Amino acid sequence: MSESAIFLDRSKLSPRFIPEELPHREKQIKQILHVFSGAAGDPDRFPLTILQVVGVAGIGKTTTVIRSTKIIEDEFAKNRRKLKTAYINLKLQGGNKFAIYRLLLERLAPELPAQGLSAEEMLRYLLRYLRDNSQYALVVMDEIDYLIKTSKDTSIVYDLTRLNEFEPEKPCNVKGVVFIARSTDFYSRLDPAELSTLGRVPMEFSQYSLEEASDILASRCEQAFNPRAMGSDIIDQVARITTSAEVNGDVRYALDLLLYAGNLAESQGQDHVTLEHVRKVHGQTHPTITTEEIEQLSKNHVISLVAVVRALKSRKKQYVELKDVRLHADELAEQLGIKKMEVEDYLDDLKVRKLVEMRSLKEIGLHGASLAELEPVLLGRIKQ
Ligand SMILES: Nc1ncnc2c1ncn2[C@@H]1O[C@H](COP(=O)(O)OP(=O)(O)O)[C@@H](O)[C@H]1O
Ligand SMILES: [Mg+2]
Repeated sequence: MSESAIFLDRSKLSPRFIPEELPHREKQIKQILHVFSGAAGDPDRFPLTILQVVGVAGIGKTTTVIRSTKIIEDEFAKNRRKLKTAYINLKLQGGNKFAIYRLLLERLAPELPAQGLSAEEMLRYLLRYLRDNSQYALVVMDEIDYLIKTSKDTSIVYDLTRLNEFEPEKPCNVKGVVFIARSTDFYSRLDPAELSTLGRVPMEFSQYSLEEASDILASRCEQAFNPRAMGSDIIDQVARITTSAEVNGDVRYALDLLLYAGNLAESQGQDHVTLEHVRKVHGQTHPTITTEEIEQLSKNHVISLVAVVRALKSRKKQYVELKDVRLHADELAEQLGIKKMEVEDYLDDLKVRKLVEMRSLKEIGLHGASLAELEPVLLGRIKQ
């Protein structure tokens, strides 16, 4: 059953959807499975294995790792063993080590109360719980570079890579820890001990070529669009945009572009997407921010970002001062009937997320002028 003349199922384009097939990442999946081969057959003799995956945004790192951990879970199940994966996106959760370990407990050992435990105790109890319940685990720490860049406490890397040293004489039921990062820049913030336990060489994901991007988008479109609504010329055009220097291979942007172009065609009552729809949407949106990134922002982050947009608009300058941004943030808070806040608490983080450019407190601007056109989208997010 198709959703409309255009879409079979638009949710298949959502960042939350993990496709079964990942064209041009089969090799990486195989590599990850190879790293853990043997774990399902004899888990107690399989050592804690640390894996790092590195590559720019939107090239399938998260998806490939999650797909692989699902396959490993299935292998355990076939051997009548239980393995669970705890996936944590550190950009989404943020917070300190404490909050992150609590989340880990929630995912892997929901019956275990975390109240009143120290960070170290949480890990110790978790390991004991897993052993007592004959349960195995994989831990995926996504966007680790973001956490390391924004947090003073980097010991999480040390802790997680030494889980097998808590009780060295007993097997450690966490079989793998996978760290995913955009680059290895964060190494410079780790101390030598952390760096050495992280060790080894990361698995580097490279960007997709034009042909690869076309194949991938074709396979995604097949599930999302009616065959007659989406032509291969459109897919090729979106693949060209995706592999352009501006978009830098970000497939997440490509999927957004396809979704919005489809929505536009639909709203005009047409039965297929045209190059004109793609051009129009591409001209309006900006590759430096995707729907997923907007969804990851808290309300106060969004208000701070909109305040920057408005301050720039009203001053008609490339940069504004912090006090201008504050003014607009206060006004917005008032309009929305929420508590006033300290924008500077959020600007730093927006800077790390590369949404706001901040050279000094007197020079605050935006990465990409067309972010300004996103104001309605951002406001929509606040009202959600
Ligand atoms: N090889 C692929 N096949 C199908 N979809 C893909 C592929 N690579 C990336 N995607 C899609 O592109 C988006 C971005 O991928 P993601 O794994 O989140 O990237 P990263 O973690 O590298 O930033 C996701 O929606 C994902 O489903
Ligand atoms: Mg990712």
